Amino acid sequence: MTSLHINPPDYVKNQKLIAWVQQTAELCQPDSVHWCDGSQEEYDALCQQMVESGTFIRLSDEKRPNSFLCRSDPSDVARVEDRTFICSIRKQDAGPTNNWVAPKEMKATLKEQYSGCMKGRTMYVIPFSMGPIGSYISHVGVEITDSPYVVTNMRIMTRMGRKVENLLGEDREFVHCLHSVGAPLEEGQQDVAWPCNDVKYIVHFPEERSIMSYGSGYGGNALLGKKCFALRIASSMARDEGWLAEHMLILCVESPEGEKTYVAAAFPSACGKTNFAMLIPPDSFEGWKVTTIGDDIAWIKPGKDGRLYAINPENGFFGVAPGTSEKTNFNAMATLKENCIFTNVAMTPDGDVWWEGMTKTPPEGLTDWQGNAWTPDSGRPAAHPNARFTSPASQCPSIDPEWENPDGVPISAFIFGGRRSDVVPLVYQSPNWYFGVYLAATMGSEKTAAAAGKIGEVRRDPFAMLPFCGYHMGDYFTHWLHVGRLLSDPPRIFGVNWFGKDEDGNFLWPGFGDNMRVLKWIVDRVHGRASAVESPLGWMPKYESMDLEGLEDFTPEQFTKLMTVDRESWKKELLSHEELFEKLYDRLPKEFAHIRELLLSTFWLSPEHWALAAERFTGEHN
Ligand code: GTP
Ligand code: SPV
Ligand code: MN
Repeated sequence: MTSLHINPPDYVKNQKLIAWVQQTAELCQPDSVHWCDGSQEEYDALCQQMVESGTFIRLSDEKRPNSFLCRSDPSDVARVEDRTFICSIRKQDAGPTNNWVAPKEMKATLKEQYSGCMKGRTMYVIPFSMGPIGSYISHVGVEITDSPYVVTNMRIMTRMGRKVENLLGEDREFVHCLHSVGAPLEEGQQDVAWPCNDVKYIVHFPEERSIMSYGSGYGGNALLGKKCFALRIASSMARDEGWLAEHMLILCVESPEGEKTYVAAAFPSACGKTNFAMLIPPDSFEGWKVTTIGDDIAWIKPGKDGRLYAINPENGFFGVAPGTSEKTNFNAMATLKENCIFTNVAMTPDGDVWWEGMTKTPPEGLTDWQGNAWTPDSGRPAAHPNARFTSPASQCPSIDPEWENPDGVPISAFIFGGRRSDVVPLVYQSPNWYFGVYLAATMGSEKTAAAAGKIGEVRRDPFAMLPFCGYHMGDYFTHWLHVGRLLSDPPRIFGVNWFGKDEDGNFLWPGFGDNMRVLKWIVDRVHGRASAVESPLGWMPKYESMDLEGLEDFTPEQFTKLMTVDRESWKKELLSHEELFEKLYDRLPKEFAHIRELLLSTFWLSPEHWALAAERFTGEHN
């Protein structure tokens, strides 16, 4: 067996951690073990090491100080949902929306994969806290990885290093996160810039609260604090302990009078969370301010006062680069000024980054995300559609003063939105918690580049959690209904859709900063101010109750189009809810059957009655 000494530093006292590192080193057989202290020196040294090995390109010190470009292997560019497993003890607890293999069998398979998989590499030990250190909502994990790219990204995305080691004490429990790129180096073999393996496993053991990831170095597959821990494992913990772990941004809307309203919103991957979280209101909204608490994940606990309190468990943003510009997301661009890692974006000749949508015309002499010369005539994008930036949240100009408050912020509204070119209107408010849970559960969205697979297809993505729920989706719905019952003052629930299109494929709604107009209506509804009309989906704004001042070319007809609840399309939509329900039938909450009946009875009204009702709710405004 290996004679490797794992040499834990003096300050590491947790015996379970030391034993686990020893055991993992024996299995994976790295050349050496590095205990991460989280210091700037350590970060700088790892970046420099990756520059020398060809993994990182140092960007221009003038244009992007202390920032790096990384090009992944072209086959390793997104989450791999078909290689993601929830290995609960019983298959029915993972549910039909997750891949499942019996834990024993999976562990045997993985043991073979991990055996000697770190040969020729350094094994890094990363203790990290999800959430502000010491918050009662936070949780601790340790990631073991053979990827220095993962270490540097984890330093931006989580609170990590020595300060967490102190928290671990001698015997505190932590979530075990094992990661390997699965590319052992034989004696004398030359390393590649982005080692990975065609065989990939992203595996979760919810009862054990542990994660084993193999073969990929990318994003959610490899930065295990993010989707694997903060959503899949945490959603399991949350169900057992009575809280919520959600794929949600958190923002604060401040009115000119200084009234603060905190809102959490769930959109599927690459459907607008980061943009919404950093929104800048249009000029006509003088005195209104939006500040950012989080852009991707929310951990939410009921407080003693009967309200829900949310923290952002992350410390940075791992955001979609394409489409980000000074115009669409000024705050993100400002966050990206320095100290960032860019993955799979294009590079300019003067050592800066570029991606589709950053500027109208691309700069000359670009190198694309794979390192090839690129021109607009190349017939392919310069940046990968799922190219990402990793940036410290503290650098964001719109970061909320409360973003690290260990007690969290009180949530007044939940917003759910998919990417739908038709059918789903711009905004509607659920009449109550139950109906809201139903609407969130049946949300559909067109697939994006954030996960491998066919782009554009509509799929049901309940709560934007389809790829991230660590247990049976039917039980998850029941848990949401249950949490609502515990609250004396539950948040109001809204649906939105920024992505409606006309016949020519143009977006009907300007989106981005103009989403403030919808957000203001939502905030006003929460505080009992704005008027609304009833529709089959709930309450909707009339043209007059939306603040559309300064939206030059936006006509009442366009508004009507955006707000229309088309009867025939909704009949089809309801039928497709049935597909999801059939899958989950044995664990579907009873309430859902009743709500669906209610919806059906509205959409199957006789044509005359529908016409009468439609006058009220299709957004006719005269
Ligand atoms: P993940 O990090 O994958 O969870 O994505 P996200 O939900 O944070 O999405 P993000 O804000 O990064 O937006 C993804 C894409 O949607 C980008 O290309 C944006 O430009 C685009 N987008 C965001 N908001 C809007 C909007 O209001 N309207 C339109 N048309 N596009 C938008
Ligand atoms: C998402 O896909 O929702 C992301 C990116 O936020 S990843 O970290 O890869 O999951
Ligand atoms: Mn996400």
